Amino acid sequence: AHAMGQRPITFLRQVVALCTYPNLLDSPSFPEDAKERARRILQGCGGNSLGSYTASQGINCIREDVASYIERRDGGVPADPDNIYLTTGASDGISAILKILVSGGGKSRTGVMIPIPQYPLYSAAISELDAIQVNYYLDEENCWALNVNELRRALNEAKAYCNPKVLCIINPGNPTGQVQNRKCIEDVIHFAWEEKLFLLADEVYQDNVYSEGCQFHSFKKILYEMGPEYYNNVELASFHSTSKGYMGECGYRGGYMEVINLHPEIKGQLVKLLSVRLCPPVSGQAAMDIVVNPPVPGEESYAQFIKEKESVLNNLAKKAKLTEDMFNKIPGIHCNPLQGAMYAFPRIFIPSKAIEEAKAHKMAPDMFYCMKLLEETGICVVPGSGFGQREGTYHFRMTILPPVEKLKILLEKVKDFHIKFLEKYA
Ligand SMILES: Cc1ncc(COP(=O)(O)O)c(C=O)c1O
Repeated sequence: AHAMGQRPITFLRQVVALCTYPNLLDSPSFPEDAKERARRILQGCGGNSLGSYTASQGINCIREDVASYIERRDGGVPADPDNIYLTTGASDGISAILKILVSGGGKSRTGVMIPIPQYPLYSAAISELDAIQVNYYLDEENCWALNVNELRRALNEAKAYCNPKVLCIINPGNPTGQVQNRKCIEDVIHFAWEEKLFLLADEVYQDNVYSEGCQFHSFKKILYEMGPEYYNNVELASFHSTSKGYMGECGYRGGYMEVINLHPEIKGQLVKLLSVRLCPPVSGQAAMDIVVNPPVPGEESYAQFIKEKESVLNNLAKKAKLTEDMFNKIPGIHCNPLQGAMYAFPRIFIPSKAIEEAKAHKMAPDMFYCMKLLEETGICVVPGSGFGQREGTYHFRMTILPPVEKLKILLEKVKDFHIKFLEKYA
């Protein structure tokens, strides 16, 4: 986001600056609420310095702030700081949890169910661990919805060659941008309960919801609302990050995971595993604290904070709609609504002559398309084959991060390119 010109949230940077260089605590240029946050974080650090290692699970007071944030977000559903682990971005948490879940050999090797299209961290982590990737397909005709019948199909087929134990959900979706409704989440949780699957809920885009009528529901909240049979049994790890939302602070590598119903001995193993990397970056932990503990009404920085946050999110919402509308005006491109996250994943029609030429170059057809787009316009998008897609369909993923004016020019260029491409390979 920042690479595309998005400005950092002032309050977050003020607190991190104060933590990094505490002499600034005497400066009149910093607001009192930022200083108060910084002092609290520094008190949680060894020697009052960000330069000390912290506990492997993360600084206590920040884990408490994360738990309070989750409780507020989920309408009072309790969260225990002991179940919170601060991480090096969400990626670190996801890899760590997968690491402790994967075991067995041959047909009993752990299968990990992931959506297709997926964010490639999942296929990469699964491959690194030599686990078995089990694909379930999102329903493109239905705005990339997740259908439990498809989960069941994938699970039953996978049981023939592995031991499917983990179900990953990305909500809102990357690269597909869908936001799951409450009923869908309930169905998924019921399915996980029935099949005794460990749920991984990747919720890093929880603040990025744009379409009217769409709302973010956390898996944790719905799990609780489904009653004790579910919330006392279903194992769930959910993930959040400083990287997305309105912050876009991916360089700080801040994140957390909340883990529910993990056996105490496994929790011990998880801490041991996390302690191999000593601790997550402490500046990232501080940044995560501001995401979960931002200025509140009545505090000096509140007005500016809300203005900045809303400006980023309103802008993203505008760009989501603009992108969807522009793509859908181009013949041979269809784009589902960008309900959330930061990407468009339009389906593109590639003529058979272009497919043949791609094959001659030993390239996937959408890779060929994306390379041509790059060569002819300088626009870099990612071919759908990098995320997975139904056989015979082609897509690309594009972020909606460039500023509105630039995005309009970019979309016009994609349109001109696409029309010429169709003519050339007609
Ligand atoms: C769905 C999803 N999960 C996880 C991540 C990784 O985020 P982080 O920077 O917090 O490691 C990303 C980053 O793009 C993502 O899109």
